[in-house]
Amino acid sequence: MRNPVWLEEHVDGLVGCMKAHTSTAEATSDYRKLCLTNGWPERSANACLQKLQNMGPSAFTLMRAEAGSPQRADVGTTAADLAARLKRDNADLARRLREAESRALDDESIAKLVGVGKAAWDLEPPSWATEAPKSRVGETPQLAGGFVSDKHGGEVVDPAQVRGYNEYNSEICSIRVRHTYTMFCEMPDFYTPRFSYVGFLLMSGGDDVSGGIHEHLRKTDDESTQQGVVRAVRDEIWGIELLKSRYGRVWNVRVPGNHARSTDKVESKNFAYQNYDWLVSQLVAEHFKGDPKVKIGAPPAFHLVFKVFNENWFLTHGFEIKGGAGISGIETPVALARHRALKVEQVIGKGFDVYNHAHHHTHGFKKGYQRNGCVVGYNEFAMLRGYDPEPPQQDFFIVDPLRGITFQTTVFCNPESPKKAAMASARRDAVKKSVQSAVRWE
Ligand SMILES: [Fe+2]
Repeated sequence: MRNPVWLEEHVDGLVGCMKAHTSTAEATSDYRKLCLTNGWPERSANACLQKLQNMGPSAFTLMRAEAGSPQRADVGTTAADLAARLKRDNADLARRLREAESRALDDESIAKLVGVGKAAWDLEPPSWATEAPKSRVGETPQLAGGFVSDKHGGEVVDPAQVRGYNEYNSEICSIRVRHTYTMFCEMPDFYTPRFSYVGFLLMSGGDDVSGGIHEHLRKTDDESTQQGVVRAVRDEIWGIELLKSRYGRVWNVRVPGNHARSTDKVESKNFAYQNYDWLVSQLVAEHFKGDPKVKIGAPPAFHLVFKVFNENWFLTHGFEIKGGAGISGIETPVALARHRALKVEQVIGKGFDVYNHAHHHTHGFKKGYQRNGCVVGYNEFAMLRGYDPEPPQQDFFIVDPLRGITFQTTVFCNPESPKKAAMASARRDAVKKSVQSAVRWE
């Protein structure tokens, strides 16, 4: 209610507070507490002062006389005395406000306190990913890259319920993720052994954790979301360190997915801030802060556009791509989502050349388009809806500085694939040891 009426008891209360204090600021503060206690209308300090002023100098005289205290000598009897007093009180309030503001925490201070800066919000690419390296014809160093998404850490897939096609839990999650990073390092040895590389572009597409976003997940997940965050951070740091040891430099761009949200439904405002994938990204960025060989780009956005040599690349988790029940499957909804995104980016940015998305758990490549597979693999949800089954796999690609993407394939996440036996290596032993330590919660 605006300007609530001053009842007699309200005025008496205010006068009582004036008598009890030597400063108007303290008196009005006391009166406001009294209002809360008695359920009287709330009034600002200014409203109280205004009321006192309206009561006239005589009211102050009366208060002083009744108080009978020499300490209240600051209370004058004339309009000039009252104005002087209000001026002093106003200066006192202004000083207190300045002190309060100086103690207030802004975003930057909070980020410093929790140890996470905004450096990870920077999507400016490292120069080695945008400037074609100088070299002899035919030996141009390439950019290797991989796409990691849809781990759904904590989700459990019961093999008996998917006809033995898949098995998954949090321990298998770590094993598959680390095996994927290992394969990212080994792929050039098998397919392009003559190439040298300027570095590795890692696209992290979200859904690091199951998130318990549906009732059936809450009932069956074998880890909480918070445990999944710890696991994901460990696995991501392990993987990026491995990529750094193989390729020398790593540029990692990260977007959050829908499974890691902490809200009931996807909310467009504060989507990243309320998302556990974003938390994973910030903690990973914190780990690599100051490392000149690793750059993390994880701004609080659900779409990213970044430069890769002469092209612009678009990255989204892809939960905004709806539909796909028709005979064309996901292709038509993806084409529509790509069109919409391009329309926006042509206005607010510079458009894009390559559209990268995840979320649909099946990989796919076309010109200017990469869809990632998943780590979690085929599950009961996918089988019930008749989605395409495929082994868990993640995109691997090579980008030529002048020609764009020249090589696209996937790596299988599951080390139980037949390739495993043929590719035993010291690196794999390291994976095994690290996975053992990761799943033991040391
Ligand atoms: Fe998703």
